[in-house]
Order: sequence, then structure tokens, then C-alpha cells
Amino acid sequence: MDAAAVNRVMWAIPNVLCLVGSRAGDERNGMTTSWVTQVAMEPVLVAISVDSTAVTNRLIRDGGSFSVNLWDREDTKVFRRFSKPAEDDGAALNGYSVRNGVTGVPIFDDAIAWFECAVRDTIDVGTHDLFLGEVIDVGIRDGAEEQVARMEDTRMKYGGVRRH
Ligand SMILES: Cc1cc2nc3c(=O)[nH]c(=O)nc-3n(C[C@H](O)[C@H](O)[C@H](O)COP(=O)(O)O)c2cc1C
Repeated sequence: MDAAAVNRVMWAIPNVLCLVGSRAGDERNGMTTSWVTQVAMEPVLVAISVDSTAVTNRLIRDGGSFSVNLWDREDTKVFRRFSKPAEDDGAALNGYSVRNGVTGVPIFDDAIAWFECAVRDTIDVGTHDLFLGEVIDVGIRDGAEEQVARMEDTRMKYGGVRRH
């Protein structure tokens, strides 16, 4: 297969752009993530796919939970800031204030909608691990549905074939 064509097709799949919050012990992180989707209804399960070398991967494995923070599409600069491990000053990650969810994972105060998941299964898919999380808590602001940031709101791309 032509790698450039694979990239074009994979990048044509519409995706959300959000921050995944994670925690193990005192260590916390936030990570720009696009591979997020609901995969079952009873219970409501969401899959996220996280690079096996990412700090977030280790924190989700060790902590057993994660948060998904949907963001305002007018404020996409946040996604550049969270594409490397975040600085934690105790009250905020990279200067964005967070609170603890029921499992202790960070939830961003600026998220326009968010949910928290308890990991029910982890599947090794090679470059990434697929975490299947049961949704255990949610929150949403009025009007958030139309305002949620998506990949096409930015010039960023993720996925396609691996670059060596
Ligand atoms: C637009 C965009 C989308 C991304 N989507 C994902 C994703 O779905 N899964 C993933 O593992 N990394 C994704 N990344 C890469 C991570 O954000 C980046 O490698 C990362 O911060 C490393 O994670 P860590 O801070 O937990 O070490 C994406 C990066 C960008 C810029």
C-alpha cells in the first residue's frame, strides 16, 4: 500500500480532540488525544488508544482509570501544550486548573464536557494499548454539543502510518 494514500484516508476519519487525564499515586498527567469512541451501551464503555511509550499509558495502567475532557473548539492552543508530559503544580496541569474525580484522576475545570472511566479491559494493539473504560461520572455545560473541539478545527494530524 502507498503510505501517503493510507495517511490521507486515515486522516479523513473525523475525530474529536480532547485531553485525557490520568493519575497513579501522586503522579498526574494530561494528554492531547484523538482516538476516543464509545464502544458499548450497557454498561457505557469508551475505548481510548494510548501510545505504549506515553507517560499517560503507564499512569492509566497503574491507576486503573482516566478522564476524557472535551474542550471548546475556539481554544485549540491547549492541544499543543499537552502533546508532551504536563507540569503539575498541585492545583493545575500546565497552568490549567484541575480537580479530582471520584477515582482521583484530574478533571479540567475548563472542560465544556467531561467523563470519568474505570478501566475494565486493556488490549495490546502494538504501537498503542486500547483501554476500555466504563463511564462512571459525567458533566456537561449548556450548549457544549456544538462547541466540542474536533481535529478539523486545527492543522494537526494524528495517526496514519508510523514515521520511522
Ligand atoms: C492532534 C494530536 C492528537 C493526538 N492523539 C493521540 C492519541 O489519540 N493517542 C495517543 O497515544 N497519542 C496521541 N497524541 C500524541 C500525544 O499527545 C503525545 O505523544 C503525548 O503527549 C505523549 O503522552 P504523555 O504526555 O502521556 O507522555 C496526539 C497528539 C496530537 C498533537
